[in-house]
Amino acid sequence: MKAVIPVAGVGTRLRPHTHTVPKALLQVAGKPILGHIIDTVASLQVDEIILVVGYMREKIEDYVSRNYSLPIRAVVQEEPKGLGHAVYVTRESVADGEPLLVILGDTIFDLDFSPIVKGGGNLIGVREIEDPRRFGVVKSQGTRIEGFVEKPERPPSNLAIVGLYYFTDGGPLFSALDEVVRRNIRTRGEYQLTDALQLMLERGHEMTCLHIEGWFDCGNRETLLETNRYLLDRVGKPADLETAIVVPPVSIDPAATVENSIVGPYASVAAGAVIRNSIVRNSIVGERATVESTSLEGSLIGDNAVVRDVCRRLNVGDSSEVA
Ligand code: G1P
Repeated sequence: MKAVIPVAGVGTRLRPHTHTVPKALLQVAGKPILGHIIDTVASLQVDEIILVVGYMREKIEDYVSRNYSLPIRAVVQEEPKGLGHAVYVTRESVADGEPLLVILGDTIFDLDFSPIVKGGGNLIGVREIEDPRRFGVVKSQGTRIEGFVEKPERPPSNLAIVGLYYFTDGGPLFSALDEVVRRNIRTRGEYQLTDALQLMLERGHEMTCLHIEGWFDCGNRETLLETNRYLLDRVGKPADLETAIVVPPVSIDPAATVENSIVGPYASVAAGAVIRNSIVRNSIVGERATVESTSLEGSLIGDNAVVRDVCRRLNVGDSSEVA
């Protein structure tokens, strides 16, 4: 089986952080979003992970080569032409007949992958949500899918496509994507994966809904912090620090310095960060960031940022200074 993880997107909703870091590398619960995804995928029987890179591809390639020795290959999507196009550019890396898993690079899943690994046919991850208009939506009869539509004004159901797709054979998907690109079928200006899936249905390929409750979006500040809280709830209590009070759950990198401070609950502190005389709750503090004499709640602090003498909610990009 091959796994394709598209991570080429710009992540505009997470600015200012995505001015300097690609979205997939933003920290959540002690490691980048992409790290969580690769760790999950690596526990499956995957022969190779194919990352679709574009925006700040060097940073992604650097992170992966420093942290993983798995068979991982990067394929470049030169222009952002949509998710369908992102998957299409991997067509030469997946042989005909080979099973294929596609997981979007900005989403963390908590699920039992066994129905997938057991080969339960073509599966599309969905979740029932109140208003699915900003997602792809499936129309289904029981779990059998009868149609796909991308970000519909009037959704045919409440089943949103969550960003996990499994195909027993990648061939029919690439053939449908090829037609989407060749005939220049665009929806909202882009080559959509949902349009290729619709074509597959029309060509007689069956697809089934895989209901996923453990779906953690990391698309904006609120959902990133929510995902941080969820993941931290599952980590053990950290060792006590000499001059700090740690209120679990937290993730404090061993290479961070925390002095005279209260950290947690729900704080993630990355390597090289320095926290002194501060309170840090429900926040993510980036690598080598400095937080001094500050009280943080619901905040995202970028890598190398410096925050001193501040008591409020912050969304500070990398290398900024607030004092
Ligand atoms: C993409 C897909 C959409 C899916 C969503 C899940 O949209 O096109 O069908 O529901 O991911 O996150 P995007 O979020 O890239 O606009």
